[in-house]
Amino acid sequence: RSTLQSVSTRKGQPFMFGSTYDTYESNQSFSSSVFSTFFNHVVAENGCKWDATEPSRGTPDLGECQAVQSFASKNGASFRGHNTFWHSQTPSWLPGGISASDLVNNVIPQHVQQTIQGMGSSVTSWDVVNEIVGDGVSNGMSALQCVQNKKVWPTQTSDGSSTTLVTDLSFVHAAFTTALKYAGSNTRLAINDYNTGGNDAKTACVLAVLADINANAGIPYNRLAVGFQSHISATGFTSKSALSATFAKLAQLGATAMITELDISLPSASSGYERLQAAIWGDYLDACLYASNCNEFINWDPRDDMSWLGTSAAGTLFDSSGNPKIAAYEVQARLQRFA
Ligand code: XIL
Repeated sequence: RSTLQSVSTRKGQPFMFGSTYDTYESNQSFSSSVFSTFFNHVVAENGCKWDATEPSRGTPDLGECQAVQSFASKNGASFRGHNTFWHSQTPSWLPGGISASDLVNNVIPQHVQQTIQGMGSSVTSWDVVNEIVGDGVSNGMSALQCVQNKKVWPTQTSDGSSTTLVTDLSFVHAAFTTALKYAGSNTRLAINDYNTGGNDAKTACVLAVLADINANAGIPYNRLAVGFQSHISATGFTSKSALSATFAKLAQLGATAMITELDISLPSASSGYERLQAAIWGDYLDACLYASNCNEFINWDPRDDMSWLGTSAAGTLFDSSGNPKIAAYEVQARLQRFA
């Protein structure tokens, strides 16, 4: 914590280093202690998603999302929002029978407004849209083609016999214009995705979508962010230099970069892999620390037995007894070196 304070002083802006929390998760006493000593930033693992926050249409339920926000402030930590739009973890009334125009004109604006307004202006950043770029994209695709390639609701709808792709990005624009209207003036508005960060077609797509949001939804770059989820493995990750180059491209536009969901799974338990994991963790952290436009860094799940990947992936900073792993010491060392 005190190191994070020094890092913030050197960066000239708060450096937010955190993890996930929900009030119903296991190991609550571990969370209280680690979020008041080691982390200074909190995101709800599930509590702010659409199924939690709008279980019946038009009626917000921000109970868990706000409880996580209160947990953050009780522990002197800041809070980020995840997320207002995702094809997954939707309430049971979605997507069934909702037309494209109802979605764009009513459903999305209402949900984004009630969530973002309801959570207040201190939220540091919101993942306004999550995972909207396809995995089969290639270089040179337009923003629309990148999103059409996702092929899940609402980019693809099906009437049983045929499928229809979205013909424009109005659902994305609706989310962002509403977010800009109701978010605090310092809240960053992010597009968030996985398998991104390097010099690859999916990252090019994310940048194309960002440019489209700027040009066609009128969101200034200084309010926009790209979240790089970074669910990676010790044998599949992006190099520090490639990450830095991507962050620099965003800095040039005036946009923010953030690491939003880092975990690094191991192919098998071994101290060699744990050391490799630590080195990769340090490189991702350095890429963010030394970038002028990166100040939020989230580690997805605070310890191995709480990980969505399962305990055996060993993908987090703390082991299943809550003890710091080599990667946690490495993170501490990199923070100290920067500070
Ligand atoms: C995961 C949570 O960790 C799990 O608890 C839940 O069952 C499924 O979602 N990308 C995201 C996150 O944006 O919201 C996901 O979180 C992990 C992948």
